[in-house]
Amino acid sequence: MKANAWKKIATAGLGLTMAVSITGCGNNADQPQQGQGNQPAAETPAGETVELIYARGKDQTGATTKLVEEFQKLHPNIKVSFREMPSDTGQNHDQLVTMFSAQSSEIDVFDLDVIWPAEFAQAGYLLPLDRLIEQDGVKMDDYIKGAVAAGNFNGQQWAMPKFIDTGLLFYRSDLVPNPPKTWDELIALSKENKGKGGTKYGYIMQAKQYEGLVCNFIEFSAAYGGKILDEQGNVTINSPGTIKGLTKMTEIVKSDFVPKNITTYTEIESDATYLEGESVFLRNWPYHFAIANDKEKSKVVGNVKVAPLPAGDAGSAATLGGWMSGINKFSKHPKEAWEFLKFMTAAEGQKITAVQGGSAPTFLPLYEDKDVQGASPLFANKDFVNGISAAVPRPVSPVYPKISDIIQIEVSKVLAGQQAPEAAVQAMEAKIKEAVGK
Ligand code: GLC
Repeated sequence: MKANAWKKIATAGLGLTMAVSITGCGNNADQPQQGQGNQPAAETPAGETVELIYARGKDQTGATTKLVEEFQKLHPNIKVSFREMPSDTGQNHDQLVTMFSAQSSEIDVFDLDVIWPAEFAQAGYLLPLDRLIEQDGVKMDDYIKGAVAAGNFNGQQWAMPKFIDTGLLFYRSDLVPNPPKTWDELIALSKENKGKGGTKYGYIMQAKQYEGLVCNFIEFSAAYGGKILDEQGNVTINSPGTIKGLTKMTEIVKSDFVPKNITTYTEIESDATYLEGESVFLRNWPYHFAIANDKEKSKVVGNVKVAPLPAGDAGSAATLGGWMSGINKFSKHPKEAWEFLKFMTAAEGQKITAVQGGSAPTFLPLYEDKDVQGASPLFANKDFVNGISAAVPRPVSPVYPKISDIIQIEVSKVLAGQQAPEAAVQAMEAKIKEAVGK
């Protein structure tokens, strides 16, 4: 994928699903859809108020407040209170597991990282949604296939897709007119431009020992042909591609054009540094574009553009991320919880998440909506939208947290200079094989 990664992907046949879904649905995305979140909750008797607790990680964009406000207008007798969870997905996960393993009904609706549904379904933490989906005629074909699949385990749907994330390269268009096409070009441009226009760094990524590190690692590894598991679930991580990718990642982390403490960076630190105007390039998820253009938060308004991540020998690769919403199996208000979940994940709710929050919808007809198209240059770009389907998923497995921990530990040791990429890849192979039982 040398010329234009997004364009190439679009011609690779992946665009077809998208086109069919949009034209086939016959809905105007500007209009809230029947049976998809805009209907009053018939089950809640008039005059009786039910209180729902909705949990999700820190939201820097204000979209969650707006979602709750708009839902409240339609459902005055379902009061939704927001519970802020840690912004680190791993810490968020651990707190939820603690609650659910004690069968707590404390929260009703919660957002799930795309890597959780298999584990949570297997553990019995989630209410299955199939019957509700069918009852309300929610058309799953309107959603991005990969996002639906992330919420499906053992043939059942456990979570509804909310928004989709893919790794992107943000660049300062006032300093670098054309984004780098390869990782080597990124290295060269970072060295050349670091210090210009008040910057201190060339590149910012997420290199702390947490889930974001796994996402960054997969992007380097896949760009050079590495793969954690194959389609049959066999462990294929020990390959020259993974070693090359990890070697390139290490070269960048140890370079003098990233912050010295880059191994403490998550998305939060990345945002803060980039919005201050301190770096030429940034790897982050789509939402960053919304805050980069928010005058209240950003010193680089109007000077940030977005491109696919640079390519290695095997092309450009972006990790598939994103969030879904599910219902706590132990919730005392499953009907009302479904009303809120349905609202958030249908046209109206996803539009708020896209326009206010800058996150890419999983509800395909919204890509035809003018307000959504205006919210980010990405959403009006067919190549980006089709390219989403080519993003690299993390292994779908009930033992995913174990796989992630192994990668986090072994990759961190390489970045800290404690082991060579070859040794890390061998260790990951042995430990992941043990974790998945293959
Ligand atoms: C984003 C992605 C999520 C990923 C996380 C890592 O929130 O949507 O899938 O696990 O970043 O930090």
